[in-house]
Order: sequence, then structure tokens, then C-alpha cells
Amino acid sequence: MNFEKQQYITIEDVLSQAHILISYNDARILLQHVLKINHAYIITHPEQSLTPIQIHTFQLLVKQRASGEPVSYILGECEFYSIKFKVTPSVLIPRQETELLVDLALEKVSSSMPCKILDLGTGSGVIAITIAKHRTLSNVTAADNSADAIAIAKTNAERLSVNNVNFIKSDWFQALTKRKFDLIISNPPYIALNDPHLNQQDLRFEPKLALVAEQDGMFCIQTIISSAASYLNAGGWLLLEHGYNQAKITKQLLKEAGFISVFSRSDLAGIPRVSGGRYDPPL
Ligand SMILES: C[S@@+](CC[C@H](N)C(=O)[O-])C[C@H]1O[C@@H](n2cnc3c(N)ncnc32)[C@H](O)[C@@H]1O
Repeated sequence: MNFEKQQYITIEDVLSQAHILISYNDARILLQHVLKINHAYIITHPEQSLTPIQIHTFQLLVKQRASGEPVSYILGECEFYSIKFKVTPSVLIPRQETELLVDLALEKVSSSMPCKILDLGTGSGVIAITIAKHRTLSNVTAADNSADAIAIAKTNAERLSVNNVNFIKSDWFQALTKRKFDLIISNPPYIALNDPHLNQQDLRFEPKLALVAEQDGMFCIQTIISSAASYLNAGGWLLLEHGYNQAKITKQLLKEAGFISVFSRSDLAGIPRVSGGRYDPPL
């Protein structure tokens, strides 16, 4: 981007220049951050001029994005369920499709009854904190085996003044012995080790621990399903996010582990994205 000869540089100018290097949407989000304005302001004030410092700051951010770095890591934040969360390269960038997992969890939890909920592989804490915010009588446990992730999730809960989540470093259920929950949810790593997408776009910058799983991506899902019944109260639900081609095998594993009312639900793109089942203990 070169504005040396121009004296009066507007929002419209910088956006169209940045769009040569990065997507218009990313440029807009970065500019909103620099100018501390919202999308509506950009649309209604395209002729507003920028100061040299604002132009310089924006140019640096565009350069970072053009080198591939995800916008959420550049800004250190990301929106999920209309809430802003802090993110760093130690955690997965929350995906919009994961909002389906939260929708389904909220369907299962009454707003007028206490409920014990476990979020396995909490990362930045988006799932646990969003549910806790919408179900204030519930008690949510958020677990991850990454100490860095737990630290960020804790910061997010504090920043959002959410007090009904507790955080624990745990390799799946390992540190949760003898505890029982009414709902267990997880968005575990589910990408196969040899998936070529791992070398593309934002995935290149995200922690591998958050993304990949052995056995064609099914290892973590299988590990969670095989132990979940021991940590669920009778009638409790297990809900799992998975890859686009993993619904059938996930449902099969749930049935084999004794879960009933097994189902899958598709995300907004029509891709089967969450599967779950209810724990019905033998009499
Ligand atoms: C796909 S990310 C999901 C993060 C977050 N819940 C979200 O939806 O944005 C998977 C998470 O599982 C965690 N994880 C991976 N292996 C684990 C294990 N053995 N025990 C506990 N957590 C694990 C990773 O650290 C990562 O935070």
C-alpha cells in the first residue's frame, strides 16, 4: 500500500488498497480495530480521513495478515456467540460451527434448575463460558491438558465476570475421578494427521494439539465416548462436535457404548457437525 503522493486518505482508499493484498472482510475488521469503530460506521463514513499514525498501524496489520497470520491472533480476540473472547496462538480460534454445540447444550439444560456440566478440551473456554453465562444456575467444569489454554480460559471467565465455571488441567477424564455430570460436551481434536488442510490457511498457525487426532481423526472422540458413561448421571447427555465425515462412526461408537436416543445435527452449512446420546444405565 503506497499513499505517499496522496494528502487526504480516506477509509475507502485504505480498504481498496488493502484488498489487493487480503480479503475485503479481513481488511475491514482490521481497520475497525485500528479506528475503534464498527461495521456500520465504515459503511456510512467511507470519506472519513485517517491520520498518518492510523494509516501506519493499519499497514502493519495488513502486512501481518498478508503473511498468513489469522486475524484473530493479530487482534488477540475473537467473537463467539456474540461475545468477545481473548485468544492467543496457544488456543484454537473458535469456529462459528461450534455455536451449534452450544445451542444443543442449552436445549438440554434448564434455566431454572441447577446442572453439572463438563466441557472437555475447553481451549479458550468459549463453550464452557458461553453456557455458564446463559445458564447461571449451572456449575460448569472446563478441562484441558494444555496449561496455557487453561490460563487463557480463566482470563476470559474473569474478563466476562462469569463465576460459575471452574477450570482444571486434565488429560480428558483423568483428573475428574469419581465426579458425575448431567451433561458432557466436547469439541475435541478430530483432524487426521495426514489431512492436507493442516498446511493451509489459519490451520498452519493453530496448535496441533488442538487439531489433530490419530486413527483418522477419531482417537479423541473414541477415548471420550469409551469413558463418558462413568462420569454421567443417569439420563445425562454426551454431545460431541466432529468432522464432516465422522457422524456415522461417532453415532456407531455412542450406540456401542450403551448410549440411547443417539442423533446427529447439521451446522448452518448443512454438514453433520454434532452427534450425541443419552446415558441410560442398565437396571
Ligand atoms: C478443537 S480444540 C477446541 C477448543 C475449544 N473448546 C473450542 O471449541 O474452540 C480441542 C482442545 O482439546 C484439548 N486437548 C487435546 N488433547 C487433550 C487431552 N488429551 N485432554 C484434554 N484436552 C485435550 C486441546 O488443548 C484443545 O484446547
